[in-house]
Amino acid sequence: MNGSPPVVRLDGITKRYGAVAANQDIRLDIHSGRIHALLGENGAGKSTLMGILSGMVQPDSGRILIDGQPRAFRSAREAITAGIGMVYQHFMLVKAMTVAENVFLGYPGVLLNRRRMEETVAQLARRFGLDIDPAARIGTLSMGERQRVEILKLLFRDSRVLIFDEPTSVLTPRESEHLFDALRRMAAQGKAIVFITHKLDEVMALSDDITILRRGSVIEGLATTAVTSKHELARRMVGRDVLLQVQREPYEPRQLVLRVDGLSNAGLRDIRLEVRQGEILGVVGVAGNGQKPLVEAICGLTAPAAGVVRILGEDWHRFYTHRRWDGNLAYIPEDRRGLATCRNLDLVDNFLLTTRQGFCRGPWLLRRRATRKALRLIRDFAIQPADTRISARQLSGGNLQKLVLAREFFRRPRLIVAEQPTQGLDIAAIQDVWNLLLNARKAAGILLITGDLTEALMLADRLAVMSAGRIVDTFPVDDADKLDRIGLMMAGSAA
Ligand SMILES: Nc1ncnc2c1ncn2[C@@H]1O[C@H](COP(=O)(O)OP(=O)(O)OP(=O)(O)O)[C@@H](O)[C@H]1O
Ligand SMILES: [Mg+2]
Repeated sequence: MNGSPPVVRLDGITKRYGAVAANQDIRLDIHSGRIHALLGENGAGKSTLMGILSGMVQPDSGRILIDGQPRAFRSAREAITAGIGMVYQHFMLVKAMTVAENVFLGYPGVLLNRRRMEETVAQLARRFGLDIDPAARIGTLSMGERQRVEILKLLFRDSRVLIFDEPTSVLTPRESEHLFDALRRMAAQGKAIVFITHKLDEVMALSDDITILRRGSVIEGLATTAVTSKHELARRMVGRDVLLQVQREPYEPRQLVLRVDGLSNAGLRDIRLEVRQGEILGVVGVAGNGQKPLVEAICGLTAPAAGVVRILGEDWHRFYTHRRWDGNLAYIPEDRRGLATCRNLDLVDNFLLTTRQGFCRGPWLLRRRATRKALRLIRDFAIQPADTRISARQLSGGNLQKLVLAREFFRRPRLIVAEQPTQGLDIAAIQDVWNLLLNARKAAGILLITGDLTEALMLADRLAVMSAGRIVDTFPVDDADKLDRIGLMMAGSAA
C-alpha cells in the first residue's frame, strides 16, 4: 500500500469501558504525506482510538510506535510534544484574544512582540493555505476561521500528524472546500492527516488510505483506489447494503399547523412561512443565516419583536402558556446531547423528560409503567442496546437520536421542528431517522432545518431557502428551475 515506514503504528490497541470493547486489538499504520480516512458506524470506536493516539485516553493494552519507537502518552501535551495533534470539534480558544496570541498561547519560548507574532502566524497560514487575519479577535471569527486557528496552533508546534474528528460538521460547504484544500497542502508538505467522517463524498474526494472500524475492531484497511464507489464503501462499513432510499407517501397537505408572518427578531427579517399537516417544509441554507433564531421563535424560546407566530391556530404566547404545547409540538434540537437528553440519567428517565402524561398519579410517578412503555419504544425504534437501565451517555450518536425521536413522536405531535436531525449520524442511522420522519409526516406538519441539501431533497415537499436572516424563496421540491439556482439563493442572490 505504501512503501515508506509509517510515522505512527498502532499495535494491538485495546480499550474497554465496562462490557463495551471500544477498541479491540487495533493495528493501524499512518503515513506522512497521506490523508487517512477513519470510518465506521456510530459507536464503532473511532474517537476512542484517536483519543488514545492524542494522549487524551489511556489504552488498557497495546503500543503506540512513533518512527518505530514505542511511546506512551499520559496527556495531550505529551502527544503534542511528540508531534501528534488533535483538532477538537469544540474549539479551545480564548475568545478575547487575537489569532496570533492564541497560536502562541502556552508556547514555552521567547517573548515576541505583537508584530513578529502576527508575521509568523501569517507566514504559516500562507504556507498551508489557511486564510486568516492574525490580528483578528477569536470572538469575531466564523467557525471555519476558528478551526483554522486550531490547525495553526498545531502546525506552529510542528505537529507531524494532525487528527480531525468530523471536522466538517461545523463548517459551511465553502469552508469545507477551503479545509480540504488546506489538508491537501499539508499532506503535500509531508504531514500525515487522519480524518474521521461519516460523509462518504468527503472520503472519496480526499483520502489516500481508508480504515473501517466495526464494533471496536478494524475490519478493513485499504487504499482508496481499491474502493469503487460510495455504495461499496457503505456496504463494507455497515456489513450490509445501505441504499439510502426512503418510503415516501403521496403529498397530501391538510390543515395548517404553523403560520409565521412578518416575523422579525434579532437575526431575522420579515419571515413568512406555512406548514401543513402531511407535509415537510425544508428550510435550507448555510448555517448561521437565521435558522437558529427562527427555531427559537417558533419553539417559544424567544419572543418575536414583530410579526405573527401561530401554532395550531393559536398565537404563540397563548399556545405556550395554555399548555397546548404539551404533546402537540415536538422539538428535535440540533444538540441531542445538550438540550435533548441528560447523559447520566437512564433511558426511562430520559424518556420521561418530556413525557409525564399518563405516567403520574397524583404526586407519584408510575415508574414501572414508564419502563414498560420505554422498552416498547426501544424495540419499535430498534434502539441498541435494548436495555432501559443504561444511561444516555452509553448510547451511540445514532441511537441517542432515535431515542429522542421515539420519545417525541410518542406524544403524537402535530407540529415537529427538527433541527439537523441526522448531523453526525452514520448512514444506517440516517436511513432510519429519515424513514421515521417521513412516517411522522402522516399525522404532523414538519419543519425541517437542515444544512444538507441531499437530506432536504430526500425528505421535503417544499423548500424555503434562508439567507441573511430572510427567506429568499419558497417552492416545491420538483421545481427544477428553482433547484438549479438554489446555490445562488443560499449565497444571497435574489430568487
Ligand atoms: N468515556 C466513556 N465511558 C463509557 N463508554 C464510552 C466512553 N467513551 C466511549 N464509550 C463507548 O465506546 C464505544 C466507542 O465510542 P466512540 O466514541 O469511540 O465511537 P465513535 O466511532 O467515535 O462513534 P460516533 O460516530 O458516534 O462519534 C461506544 O460504545 C461508546 O458508548
Ligand atoms: Mg466519534
